[in-house]
Amino acid sequence: MVITILLFILSYFFGSFPTAVWYAKLFHGIDIREHGSGNAGATNSLRVLGKKAGIVVLLFDVVKGYLPVYLFKTFSETPDLAFLVGIVAILGHVYSVFSGFKGGKGIATSLGVILAVQPVGALISVVAFVLTVVVSKYVSLGSLLAALVFNIYISFFTESPILIMVSGWFLLALLVYTHRTNIKKLIAGTENKINAKKAGK
Ligand code: G3P
Repeated sequence: MVITILLFILSYFFGSFPTAVWYAKLFHGIDIREHGSGNAGATNSLRVLGKKAGIVVLLFDVVKGYLPVYLFKTFSETPDLAFLVGIVAILGHVYSVFSGFKGGKGIATSLGVILAVQPVGALISVVAFVLTVVVSKYVSLGSLLAALVFNIYISFFTESPILIMVSGWFLLALLVYTHRTNIKKLIAGTENKINAKKAGK
């Protein structure tokens, strides 16, 4: 039980590592939250700082979700709670203690979590994401549809435990909440399309 509690706490701090904020500050001297969409995530890092920043932030943020779940599944006495520990990491990313509780929207970290929880579902959702972004050029739309596809898959095409399914739908609700501004802009037709301004940097 002690290990389980410690891993939950560790997961929050792991998720809180503000990759985009610190990368932009360290290598470009700016607060990423004051540029582009204002989001401290991989998409906005790509948009504002270029491909290299986008890839580095994406990789770190995915690992932030994957590793806590992997460690929990390996060392906890209650591996069934692994998705919940992943959601704690995502909450750490969104409400980071290291960046004034103003973090990102949780997509890359969610990918890391679902890769560790349900790899097949994660890969299917990545395909849905890529197809949507290629067709629409909207990363936010691709992100939300990917989360929806993941939930449809685990709820209706697998024998996943009820806790996994409930956690998945809770995660979708959280991502809808973090993307509320994107959703308004998508409806209004003013959402940013993906466009790496400083591609190659
Ligand atoms: O990962 C967040 C993405 O879905 C949207 O990012 O910067 O376009 O709001 P952004």
